[in-house]
Amino acid sequence: MYDQFAAAYTADNEINATNALYERPAMLALLGDVCGKNVLDAGCGAGALAEAMLDRGARVTGLEISPAMARLARLRLGQHANIMVADLAQPLSMCAEGSFDVITASLVLHYLEHWEPALREFHRVLVPGGVVVLSTHHPTMDWQLTGGSYFETRQHSETWLKNGVQATVTFWRRPLTAMIAAFRASGFAIDQVVEPMPVAECAERFPEAYAGLTSSPRFLFFRLVRGSSFRHCLTDPRGSQEQLHCQRWLDRVRPNGDVRAKADFADILRSLRWWSCQVECRSAISVA
Ligand SMILES: C[S@@+](CC[C@H](N)C(=O)[O-])C[C@H]1O[C@@H](n2cnc3c(N)ncnc32)[C@H](O)[C@@H]1O
Repeated sequence: MYDQFAAAYTADNEINATNALYERPAMLALLGDVCGKNVLDAGCGAGALAEAMLDRGARVTGLEISPAMARLARLRLGQHANIMVADLAQPLSMCAEGSFDVITASLVLHYLEHWEPALREFHRVLVPGGVVVLSTHHPTMDWQLTGGSYFETRQHSETWLKNGVQATVTFWRRPLTAMIAAFRASGFAIDQVVEPMPVAECAERFPEAYAGLTSSPRFLFFRLVRGSSFRHCLTDPRGSQEQLHCQRWLDRVRPNGDVRAKADFADILRSLRWWSCQVECRSAISVA
């Protein structure tokens, strides 16, 4: 899709209000300190965010479906980042289990019909406690633009004019509930949800865009933490280490199969060495 206008899109993205003065600063703020971290930039485009993270001391690998965008990212980043052509809708077989501390997915997930397969792959390639920072179209924006039922997950297309080149892009819009369900089903807990404001410079340089971005929702940002949800582990067909770990843990605490009735949660919490299981434990206690 982006092959049709890679250079024109990138030239605009570098300097416009929406990407340069609103979306990217919000991603960087939500990321916090990435110095020394292994970061996977999923849907890296021409590498503007990757470059900003490299400048802050991260080691960056980029995945991008469009060969033309990947080429631009390689031109920009040279040897400093490893950029691979890959489709996030497919298994990320080029990435080893537990090999990243952070995943960024900036304005890319809305190109996928199904979020869960990609998020499960994110879970697999992250270290325990690793984070995903992502931005996506705000569901109310897409709903206002395209109408129909807010609650449907459905495809829509827009034609953009970027630097004199016209291209049609196709997204999937979905309600907030569907996003959150996908995070939970893939083993992530939500740490932060942000509806940011553009940076102050935007008011001066692009007053009209600033007025729009400060009065209507445009993009929605999430910071997710990779949990080790035992529910997720037990239903994960891949038989990972985590699944084994969870299974052993559950065997210990529920001799007759009823976690809530039989487990001594205080004892479980004391004996747990795997910190992210504690997160699950706490939520189990709160519903017990
Ligand atoms: C709106 S651009 C954002 C690029 C970059 N993340 C940024 O913020 O500047 C979306 C990017 O996601 C890429 N993309 C779309 N679908 C993808 C997929 N299934 N797998 C990997 N990348 C994808 C597009 O080719 C495009 O480069």
